[in-house]
Amino acid sequence: MPKNWFEWHDLYKTEPKLQQRLQIVQEYISSAIDASSPGIIRVVSLCAGDGRDLLGTLSRHPRAKDVYARLVELNPQLYEQGRAAIESAGLSTQLEFINGDATNSSNYIGAVPADIVIVCGIFGNLSDEAELKRLIRNLPFLSKKGSFVIWTRGHSNGIAYSDTVRKVFRDADFEEVSFRLTFTGDMGVGIHRYLGEGLPLLKDQQLFVFSGDPDKYRNVSVVH
Ligand SMILES: C[S@@+](CC[C@H](N)C(=O)[O-])C[C@H]1O[C@@H](n2cnc3c(N)ncnc32)[C@H](O)[C@@H]1O
Repeated sequence: MPKNWFEWHDLYKTEPKLQQRLQIVQEYISSAIDASSPGIIRVVSLCAGDGRDLLGTLSRHPRAKDVYARLVELNPQLYEQGRAAIESAGLSTQLEFINGDATNSSNYIGAVPADIVIVCGIFGNLSDEAELKRLIRNLPFLSKKGSFVIWTRGHSNGIAYSDTVRKVFRDADFEEVSFRLTFTGDMGVGIHRYLGEGLPLLKDQQLFVFSGDPDKYRNVSVVH
């Protein structure tokens, strides 16, 4: 059992569920880039980890040079790892990694509205459905009409938590573009498109609360 979020990322080496989740997330990022209009494509990634989903996609995407992104991650080791990977990929002028709080709206000023919003590994770390609704209803502050949102949600104890996520998106004016389960059957990955108008971002607004001690990994699955 990993002790913190840095160690949690080691599971990518051994866990088929996480490996396939990453593969699907990267496919979705790639298809969202393909579907974006010519010119600059803006991406924000909340609780970005070490940014491997976006970086891995860009390493083989022909429009990599069009992508301008801001990744926000609290863990300093993951931030360092991500920043170093961005540098060695030669993408430092396009990808900005912030070692900060992804729940605070101020950290997105200047980077939104985004064409693609990545919220992976977050929904299982919210205290309840009300918090899930709050986060999804706050996504228009980061988005505009037509923005893509890519998300993940694990299942546990036989409960298909991703069903709830899909319903909340539907009720909040997002259209489902695609949804897949990993072959392990217990991890949902989705891509939705925002149908409404974006909202102006204010500074110092709390967009959601990430549950638990920020430096400790704990396996929560409390959203119903
Ligand atoms: C389940 S991991 C997901 C990481 C990455 N998105 C992925 O899918 O590989 C959750 C991440 O959220 C980060 N995190 C937790 N609270 C945060 C906060 N308030 N602001 C930014 N990152 C946070 C953790 O450090 C951890 O890297």
